[in-house]
Amino acid sequence: MKPTVVLIHGFPLSSAMWEPQTKGLKAAGYRVFTPDLPGFGNSRPKSQESCSMESFADEIFSLIKRQAGGSAVVGGFSMGGYVLLALLRDHPEAVSAAMFIDTHPAADTPETRTNRLAMVETVRKQGVAPIAESMPEKLLSKSASPELMQEVAEMIRRQPPQAIIAAQLAMAARRDQTDLLGKLRIPTLVIVGSDDVITPPATAAALSGRIPFSRLVEIPSAGHLSSLQSPEMLNNAMLEFLNSLPALHHV
Ligand code: MLT
Repeated sequence: MKPTVVLIHGFPLSSAMWEPQTKGLKAAGYRVFTPDLPGFGNSRPKSQESCSMESFADEIFSLIKRQAGGSAVVGGFSMGGYVLLALLRDHPEAVSAAMFIDTHPAADTPETRTNRLAMVETVRKQGVAPIAESMPEKLLSKSASPELMQEVAEMIRRQPPQAIIAAQLAMAARRDQTDLLGKLRIPTLVIVGSDDVITPPATAAALSGRIPFSRLVEIPSAGHLSSLQSPEMLNNAMLEFLNSLPALHHV
């Protein structure tokens, strides 16, 4: 039996970023879940105080228990990768294999934290519009079409300001997870867009190099958000990895 796949979205997006992967992986016979993290997409918000990478990971753990018999292959994109790392630390039995997509294990630098707090202030005062305007060109590389830029801007515009503020504060407070990587004993795939300026290929190579059973795939010309910019290449990388995993035997 093929394993169930859970894909965790990034910031400030929703499960909509996984539409091409949901289609591609389901067509190949996998069960796929793409939950909205609290407050994003169609999910119910949590209070700002109760948002953390760990509380988001608890939500994913509940989903895996409910829908996947207690363990799944889990993929995390960027912020979703931070959540995946918290899941691996707190509920390692829930993850049979991991896919880290354009993400990294470190905590924020002081500069990144300052930038997050500045964004929180912007969203508090002006709502989501300014970041829907500025972020697509950081998430996508120059080769992205104007239509895709627009699609990503609209996805950001649909996210509630409270969810964006709570997730930014939760990411600013997150711990460094680097020490966990050498202890992982599950098959792992690290994927990065060659033109990702947020978590560049060198960051992905360092992440992959620290994990004992990891393979690294670079997607040519893709920016950070490869799920939408190079969906077929990302699907192929995921499927090659998924198809290499041992089948599950249920007694
Ligand atoms: C993301 O794409 O989820 C963000 O770049 C993560 C972050 O802000 O650190």
